[in-house]
Amino acid sequence: MNIILLGPPGAGKGTQASHLVKTRDMIQLSTGDMLREARSSGTDMGKKVAAIMDAGELVTDDIVIGLIREKLEGNKQGGFIFDGFPRTLTQADALEELLNEVGEKLDAVIALAVNDEVLVDRIVGRAAEAVAAGGVARADDNEESLKIRLMEYYKKTNALIGYYHAKGNLVWVDGLAPIEEVQSNIAKALD
Ligand code: AP5
Repeated sequence: MNIILLGPPGAGKGTQASHLVKTRDMIQLSTGDMLREARSSGTDMGKKVAAIMDAGELVTDDIVIGLIREKLEGNKQGGFIFDGFPRTLTQADALEELLNEVGEKLDAVIALAVNDEVLVDRIVGRAAEAVAAGGVARADDNEESLKIRLMEYYKKTNALIGYYHAKGNLVWVDGLAPIEEVQSNIAKALD
């Protein structure tokens, strides 16, 4: 089964993807994690995207499509959770083609329903927790970058809701419920 977790920053995509990896042996493909890895290893691409990510803007389609292509070509057995990808209609079309090329298809798009006020609390809370634990907060986990991240979501990503609804793949799950409840509602949707 191949699924997309769709939702704005802080909706819980990464949290739910990790649970699905543990419980269903699926493969999490998070473009945010891939881009952060490229940054920390100092690749040319990583250097190129750093400022864009910190500002909360979207990285170009060709870069993220290239990252996903590489992963799909290296893991042809499926069971993918797309976390934070696609984020534009161009990325959505590219995903369909890439899945076709490796003989896979998309089974469901889980859209996490949340509201902006909760997202601010979650993101600011995550930054505070990282610092309290002696670590470093994500450079884009602050109110200023979050505003841009949300704008980018509504301008460029929200159109995917209609797109996947029309394709018959979309399932809404309440992302405001406690984490365990979201997990069990996603499990019900997938089963
Ligand atoms: P990315 O890493 O994908 O960040 P994001 O979409 O902004 O998502 P987050 O990781 O912040 O949130 P999440 O939904 O995963 O929530 P989480 O589970 O962590 O992207 C970062 C940047 O990379 C982008 O801005 C862009 O620049 C670039 N990028 C990435 N992909 C791209 C693409 N495809 N195209 C172009 N650019 C791209 O949870 C957040 C917090 O809430 C946690 O503390 C968690 O514990 C808590 N929480 C989660 N669920 C609940 C719940 N139900 N109740 C209470 N708390 C909860």
